[in-house]
Amino acid sequence: MYICVCHAVSDKTIKQAVENGCCSYREIRDCLDVGKTCGRCVPDARAVINDTLIELAADMRKVA
Ligand code: FES
Repeated sequence: MYICVCHAVSDKTIKQAVENGCCSYREIRDCLDVGKTCGRCVPDARAVINDTLIELAADMRKVA
């Protein structure tokens, strides 16, 4: 599903960027241009980032 229509960025692309080390909206914006045009996608992009970080933290707890 597209999160940022202006820049054709999907939730999967944001999730992959987080898994590859981007850990804030600012980093995602700089990396993928999410939110740089109309800005309507910012809340949804932040939600994907937060959900992915929570998933990664949960996975780390399973390993530890
Ligand atoms: S939908 Fe992301 S900047 Fe417009």
